Amino acid sequence: MKFINVFFLAASASAIAIDRGHVSTARSTGLEEAASLLSRHHAGRPANGQSNRNGNGNASKAKQGGNSNTGTVAAGNTLVLKEVNGVPGNECLTFRNNGEIVDAACVNTAADRQITPTTLNGNSVLRVQRSFTAGFRPDLVDVTACVGFNGTHFRAEDCAASNIELVQFDGTALRAPSGACAQGHDGAAQMVVDTTGANCATFQSTSVTPTAP
Ligand SMILES: *[C@@H]1O[C@H](CO)[C@@H](O)[C@H](O)[C@H]1NC(C)=O
Ligand SMILES: *[C@@H]1O[C@H](CO)[C@@H](O)[C@H](O)[C@H]1NC(C)=O
Repeated sequence: MKFINVFFLAASASAIAIDRGHVSTARSTGLEEAASLLSRHHAGRPANGQSNRNGNGNASKAKQGGNSNTGTVAAGNTLVLKEVNGVPGNECLTFRNNGEIVDAACVNTAADRQITPTTLNGNSVLRVQRSFTAGFRPDLVDVTACVGFNGTHFRAEDCAASNIELVQFDGTALRAPSGACAQGHDGAAQMVVDTTGANCATFQSTSVTPTAP
């Protein structure tokens, strides 16, 4: 529960001011729930003008698994990741309604583009900013979602799922503790994973103000 509270603190009150540009862009990239998002803003959540709080002021140096060649990004800063050599004009990682990750236009204010490196049970994980609905991901309604590796794909998963590896961002690559990394994207712009970890795509990160999920 503490983990969830920490995340909610990061929701910025200023994010209520989602502009028309964001909504239309979000719709065009498959975020069908944009309208309902506007009405659901901050229901039951503490308003907090500050972004990027992690609740205890401690930056994370936590690491997980045997990724000896990598560091991890300090907890707290919400990020948008841009794939180097991504789909031209659509290089930023986006979480679809079903939790899958695709390359889409870079819209830093869109919650479905945002992740937050944070610490869970001493491990570095990536909290997914957007919310999910019962129609697409009933397992992710009202749970804290992280980027997970389900054996073949990286996608949004319940941070608490016992059979899912949680993916980390080391400042360059997206990698699961077992070594699997994001390799790039397929012809449909969906993220592809190299389970051997040999060929990893490079991602550039931009720090953003978290948008209410
Ligand atoms: C923050 O870090 C300090 C020093 O590592 C540690 O003693 C303290 O317990 C940490 N606080 C929390 C809330 O994790
Ligand atoms: C892993 O995720 C992919 C992409 O959503 C999905 O097609 C596949 O069924 C998932 N595998 C498991 C074991 O859940």
